[in-house]
Amino acid sequence: MKEVYNIAIDGPAGAGKSTIARSVAEKLHFVYVDTGAMYRAMALHFLRMGISPADEVAIFKAAKDVKVTISYENGEQQVILNGENVSGLIRTGEVSDMASATSVYLPVREKLVELQKELARNESVIMDGRDIGTCVLPEADLKIYLTASSKVRAKRRFAQLKENQGQYTLEDIEKDIIERDSRDMNRENSPLRQAEDAVLLDSSDMTKKEVEDRILELFLERK
Ligand code: C5P
Repeated sequence: MKEVYNIAIDGPAGAGKSTIARSVAEKLHFVYVDTGAMYRAMALHFLRMGISPADEVAIFKAAKDVKVTISYENGEQQVILNGENVSGLIRTGEVSDMASATSVYLPVREKLVELQKELARNESVIMDGRDIGTCVLPEADLKIYLTASSKVRAKRRFAQLKENQGQYTLEDIEKDIIERDSRDMNRENSPLRQAEDAVLLDSSDMTKKEVEDRILELFLERK
């Protein structure tokens, strides 16, 4: 039996990756690693510095100088930006857009991918993101590509969006999701795509429990 197992979950925005990954991690006693939170922390840093997502030179320099790490508090991942816990500040629409726009840059990705690989080296992890099965953990024991229709994903995000106080309609959210997917799928560096050896799960008509059970079953088959 191996000592360290890695599970990769990729897929578009709002597919339920983090909810599912968190609960599968709990069942397997694995560490859950949310890589989107790292891109969001970087994005928050760029926003605070007033850097435009189009200003490549400034982004490259800021990405080089910034320090993003994670820690765990009661089993929940916290993301630390230059020593400050920013976990409560990264779930806004503004940060989502900035993360999507700046995750296209190689220096941003390289720094975070290095941290992600390091985290998976010594511990069993279930890691979610966009490029986990294709780039970060190409040798993962199980790779899942979790998706759902953009309508279903928009509905889930709508229910979840903390800052939503009536200013966004369901249509706004669906449009934003489609735009982010398109940017993630069409970027040059590590685009979002299903790894060849990933199992495709479309959760549009599945309950959370059905998705979870299927992942646990797939993992036990491979273990
Ligand atoms: O998953 P989440 O919505 O928190 O990710 C925020 C953004 O970070 C995504 O829209 C994507 O552009 C970027 N991301 C990425 N690679 C990952 C995880 C997230 O490019 N592994």
